[in-house]
Amino acid sequence: MNNVLALQQTFVESRKYFPSLGDTYEGHEILFMDNSAGAQVSQFVIDRVRDYYIHRNAQKGTIFKRTSEMQARIVEARQMAADFIGAADHTEIAFGLNATSFFHHFAHHLGRDLKTGDHIIITEADHHANVDPWLELAERGIQVDVWNVNANGDLDYHQYETLLLNKPKIVAVGWASNATGTIHHMERITKMAHAAGALVVADGVQAASHMALDVKKAGVDFAAFSTYKIFGPHMGFCYVNRENLARLDGWRIQKELTDSAYFFEVGSQNHEGIEGFMGSMTYLAQLSADAAGHGLVIETTPLRDCRQARKEFSGAMYWAHLYERQLSVHFLERLQEIDGVVLYGKTGEHLDERLPVFSFNITGFETDELGMALDAAGVEARTGNYLAINLMKRLADEFGGSALRISLVHYNTVEEIDRFFEILKKIIA
Ligand SMILES: Cc1ncc(COP(=O)(O)O)c(C=O)c1O
Repeated sequence: MNNVLALQQTFVESRKYFPSLGDTYEGHEILFMDNSAGAQVSQFVIDRVRDYYIHRNAQKGTIFKRTSEMQARIVEARQMAADFIGAADHTEIAFGLNATSFFHHFAHHLGRDLKTGDHIIITEADHHANVDPWLELAERGIQVDVWNVNANGDLDYHQYETLLLNKPKIVAVGWASNATGTIHHMERITKMAHAAGALVVADGVQAASHMALDVKKAGVDFAAFSTYKIFGPHMGFCYVNRENLARLDGWRIQKELTDSAYFFEVGSQNHEGIEGFMGSMTYLAQLSADAAGHGLVIETTPLRDCRQARKEFSGAMYWAHLYERQLSVHFLERLQEIDGVVLYGKTGEHLDERLPVFSFNITGFETDELGMALDAAGVEARTGNYLAINLMKRLADEFGGSALRISLVHYNTVEEIDRFFEILKKIIA
């Protein structure tokens, strides 16, 4: 079987693991196309949460055995997260409420050692989760410089070079845009930042739902992720690159982070969610096994030299990214059939630089009206700015900074895309 067919078989079949896919609501079969906001969970996650509540529901810090078993699971879960993103090991990972709260932690702790007049860089492309925490530092006299995008929504590297001349201490940047699906060149960004002496805080939230990530290769120093966008429960985890802590010389946070990133796990954690996250990694391992069963060979990919667990978790995302390309090609072709479409972000000529996340308007139609009409027909999609407020203001100003977003992941299908366009055509007719 060739790879195109093997990918189709693997991912179309992945739907069987998700009890919520194919569900109906008010007589319509649901077309779930709001995955950038949060993905569905597989039966592996549901079983795991249930199992936790029955067998290991205990608090940390006591002497009975079930507690130590529960604590051991948390370390195991951190190791799974480390395998998923390519961290050294579990000590570089901490679980927490969500990605936004980690950006607040990062800004708070890194910010304690910044002085009035120090520069940091944020971007015009980012979700406000990785914008607002840094803007709070401006209240203390820290210079917050904004790295802008051009008219296509691409980060402007000439301006970045100029901003780096200020010797910023921190660059806060997204790995991929939740609005346009544009993938940012993280390795290039970190190399330039490090050469100027800055640390990079990456928002890995969107990229993690679609592609195999390698935090070491990308060279990021701090990053945050949402587990509920990687097919797990509503939580997040963060990554801290211990190799680069020396860069924090003289900074208080360096001392606090010397042993592990657990420093960021303040108070009680969501144990049931952490176990659910383990279920989401088991799901990815299952996908990898399914892919292998269909003839996809991980040894032919850049993950060939990785440790086994990483091959399984990240390997599934490697295949997913390839399959999602097929979805993007189909979606963008069908989109051309609609008159008056204004698409934001990369066209089909730049497939390598995009995820299957499509924000667009249709001239003559009010965005929210389209969203509501789609909802009435069973299509769950999102309208607005998705908290990429500055980016959407720049790109979709004539539509009030708002657009319709169709966000797909690996369990979506070509057939669902066709159903979506049938419905959309009926609405605009
Ligand atoms: C790119 C991006 N960053 C951050 C967030 C916020 O994540 P969380 O809900 O885990 O705080 C989102 C949520 O949509 C996002 O898309």
